[in-house]
Amino acid sequence: MKYVLAPLADFTNAAFRKLCHRWGADLTCTEMVSAAALAHGAAATRQLLETLPGEGPVACQIFGANPDELAFAAREIDNLKRFVAIDLNAGCPMPRIVHGGAGAALINDPQLVYGCLAAIRRETDLPVTLKTRPGPSPDRVKLFELLAAAESAGCAGMTLHGRFTSQMHGGAVNYDLIAALVQRASFPVTGNGGVYDKASAQLMRQTGVSAIMIGRAALANPWLFGDLKSEEDVPYGELRVSRQNDVFKEHVANLIDLHGQIARNLPDVRIQELGDYLATALRTHLFRYFNGRPGAAELRRKMGSLKTFAAMQAAIAPLLEAGSRNGEVLV
Ligand SMILES: Cc1cc2nc3c(=O)[nH]c(=O)nc-3n(C[C@H](O)[C@H](O)[C@H](O)COP(=O)(O)O)c2cc1C
Repeated sequence: MKYVLAPLADFTNAAFRKLCHRWGADLTCTEMVSAAALAHGAAATRQLLETLPGEGPVACQIFGANPDELAFAAREIDNLKRFVAIDLNAGCPMPRIVHGGAGAALINDPQLVYGCLAAIRRETDLPVTLKTRPGPSPDRVKLFELLAAAESAGCAGMTLHGRFTSQMHGGAVNYDLIAALVQRASFPVTGNGGVYDKASAQLMRQTGVSAIMIGRAALANPWLFGDLKSEEDVPYGELRVSRQNDVFKEHVANLIDLHGQIARNLPDVRIQELGDYLATALRTHLFRYFNGRPGAAELRRKMGSLKTFAAMQAAIAPLLEAGSRNGEVLV
C-alpha cells in the first residue's frame, strides 16, 4: 500500500513535504495553486511551486474552472520539471474557491471537469489526476459522472475524499462509494478521509484502493506514514518524545532552507523576514508536535501572544529539554 500526503492549504509546503517523505510518505502534494494566479503572473503564487532538494516525488495540485487558465498553469508546471503529476482540485468547499466556480463547485458540472482535465492533458505528458468527493450531498451522488469525465479525459488516477461537500471536512467517510469507485474505475484510486491510525487505515484498505491519502493526522504526526507501513504496532496515542523533538528540529531546518531558496529563486516575491516566517510556522503548525506532552497545552495558549521567533524558541526550549532528559515516552 502506498501512502500519500494530502494537499493542505497553508501547510504542505516543501519544508513539510520533505519531512513527510523522510518519515515514510510515498508521494506528497503541493497545496492547491490557483491557475488564474499563475496565468496572470501573480508572483506570490510562484513560491508554492518551490520544491526542496531531496524532498521525494511531489504532485502539483491546481484549482480553477477556466480551461485556458488551467492549460497555462499546466504548461508552466510541466516546464519546471519538478513534479511527478498534476492534480485538479474538484473538492474544496471553501467559499472563496467555490464562488469562482472551482473546487467543489466543479462536482456539479462533470462536463466542465472533462473540459478542464482535457485542457490540462493537452499541455503535459505528466500523469493528470482528479481529486474530488462523491457529490454535493448524500442525495446527489455525482461520482460516476466524474469518473466518466476523468476516464474520457485520459486521467491516470483519481483521489476520492469519501465525504460529501455538505460535510466539509467532518463526519462519516463513505467507504461503500470508495469501494464502488475502485470496482468501476479503469485506473488506480486513492482513498482519503479520516485515516489517522492502523484501524482507520484498515477500513480504507478494505475498499480496495491502491493508495491511502492522509491529511490532518499528518500535521502533528508526520511519522504516521512510516508507522502504517511497519509491522510493528505503534499506536497513534503513543507519543514518542524523541521523534517529536527530531521532527520539530527537522521542520525548522527545512523551513530555513525553503526561506533561503525562495529569497534566492524568487527575488520579486515579498517574503517575511526569516524570524517572522518561522514564528508564523511555529504558531500555526509546529506547536502540534508537542501535543500530549506536559506543558503542551500551556505552550499552545502562549503561542498566540509570543511575537518573535526568539520568544517562541525560549518557550519551547524547556519542552525539548524535558523530553531529552526524561527518556523515550512521557505520556
Ligand atoms: C486546512 C486544510 C487545508 C486543505 N487544503 C486542501 C487543498 O489545498 N487541496 C485539496 O484538494 N484539499 C485540501 N484539503 C482537504 C484535504 O486534502 C483532505 O481531503 C481532507 O482533509 C480529508 O482528509 P483527512 O481526513 O485525512 O484530513 C484541506 C483540508 C484542510 C483541513
